[in-house]
Amino acid sequence: MQKPNQPPTPASPDTISKPAPTPAPLTINGKPYFHDGDPDMPLLWYLRDVLRLTGTKYGCGIGACGACTVLVDGKATRSCLTTMLAVASRAITTIEGLETDKLHPVQQAWIENDVAQCGYCQAGQIMAVVDLLARKPKPSDADIAGIDNLCRCGTYPRIRRAILRAAALSEGKAS
Ligand code: FES
Ligand code: FES
Repeated sequence: MQKPNQPPTPASPDTISKPAPTPAPLTINGKPYFHDGDPDMPLLWYLRDVLRLTGTKYGCGIGACGACTVLVDGKATRSCLTTMLAVASRAITTIEGLETDKLHPVQQAWIENDVAQCGYCQAGQIMAVVDLLARKPKPSDADIAGIDNLCRCGTYPRIRRAILRAAALSEGKAS
């Protein structure tokens, strides 16, 4: 117990209360959400554990594998390293939000080329390619090689073929 004339014991970091989080609006797959929990929560946890959007996968948790890739304002982003605070007022697209009334060209190309093996990395791969083709409608080999998402099953040759097919589908040249 604290004696009367002693200075108060400094609070340990664990007992210092954080300011109440500021509720943050955000848009996910075109729908509005309002996060009023921990602002440091990784976006990946919010997607998978709160919204149950489990298409986005957890691989490494350190930004290395890309299994957790989603689009934030159209840019491919590792959601395991992205806090809810960082996506306040931003628009997020997950694999679930890619298809609307028909398949996205990247999804179509993936199916045509039978890309997936175990499939675990594929949502992240597809989201990375959607970003690439939005920036580079006719990607070079170097552009394609710049996608650093990992695939344990080694589907890289089929991913490359599917990217070229998706580029053609997007351009409206392919039947
Ligand atoms: S789980 Fe995010 S990069 Fe691997
Ligand atoms: S398809 Fe299995 S990890 Fe990529």
